Amino acid sequence: MRTLRTVGELRAALEPARRAGRTIGLVPTMGALHEGHLSLIVRARSQCDLVVVSLFVNPAQFNEHADLDRYPRQEDRDRGLAAQAGADLLFAPTREEVYPAGFSTSVEVLGLTDRLEGAVRGSAHFRGVTTVVTKLLNMVAPDIAYFGQKDAQQVIVIRRLVEDLNVAVRIEECPTVRESDGLAMSSRNAHLSPDERTRALALHRALAAAGAAVSDGELSADALIRAARDAMTPFDVEPEYLALVSPDTLETVSRLDEPALLAIAARVGATRLIDNVTLYPDVRSNPQQPNPREAQAICSA
Ligand code: PAF
Repeated sequence: MRTLRTVGELRAALEPARRAGRTIGLVPTMGALHEGHLSLIVRARSQCDLVVVSLFVNPAQFNEHADLDRYPRQEDRDRGLAAQAGADLLFAPTREEVYPAGFSTSVEVLGLTDRLEGAVRGSAHFRGVTTVVTKLLNMVAPDIAYFGQKDAQQVIVIRRLVEDLNVAVRIEECPTVRESDGLAMSSRNAHLSPDERTRALALHRALAAAGAAVSDGELSADALIRAARDAMTPFDVEPEYLALVSPDTLETVSRLDEPALLAIAARVGATRLIDNVTLYPDVRSNPQQPNPREAQAICSA
């Protein structure tokens, strides 16, 4: 697997494949790869002729300097994992390559970004995400780009962006990969102390409690959120938000008449975690999503 640092090198490396009509897949990452990322690469490998993994810790999307400073950077390890999962090219540009002197354009999706993460982190966060994702899509020009469902709002915002700006790419959303006890894989889990790691289970337990209430026939959003909050009490973790929202508009819904997204964010110590689940009013219509084992095997090897 080759590592490329500049847009020129990247375009030159992709040119023969593009000319031959081969399918190009992009897995955008900020590094610190875990099984969630690897499941995206494995999926891309199974669907595309050529798989590009981008690795760029995007300063524009961090609203806290401390969070940016302590974000794990481990390129050699990431390179090995990406290659094992089936990537052909690692695109790891410098900050200057992505944001050269004089850079002054940003891409913003309005409305959807005011809610959930946007409401807590401010508009700069999603502006940073949508600007860098637009740049990566222009740099790689992939046929398919892969994102994880753990960042459900990010996927919804990117789908809107791609549609609004007529970007010729298919956005593929892949299921959240979880630890065996349910904790969603995240680069930030590395910051949790052993005690915080236990308390972090509050997020998954909250989502699971709401899911169990739906299975018992409960459809009122208030009741589902109450069940979720109650499940968090033993962990001494307070949600920053816990909301049942439409997966199209991200507006809150009062009843689970249609499939809806139950989204949660919480701080466990200094670490901010997010998670979500899609709830289906008719539990029998809930598609069973396998936890991709192939990626787990690569990470634990
Ligand atoms: O999900 C992420 O890791 C980032 O937001 C992304 C999509 C790579 C953009 O920096």
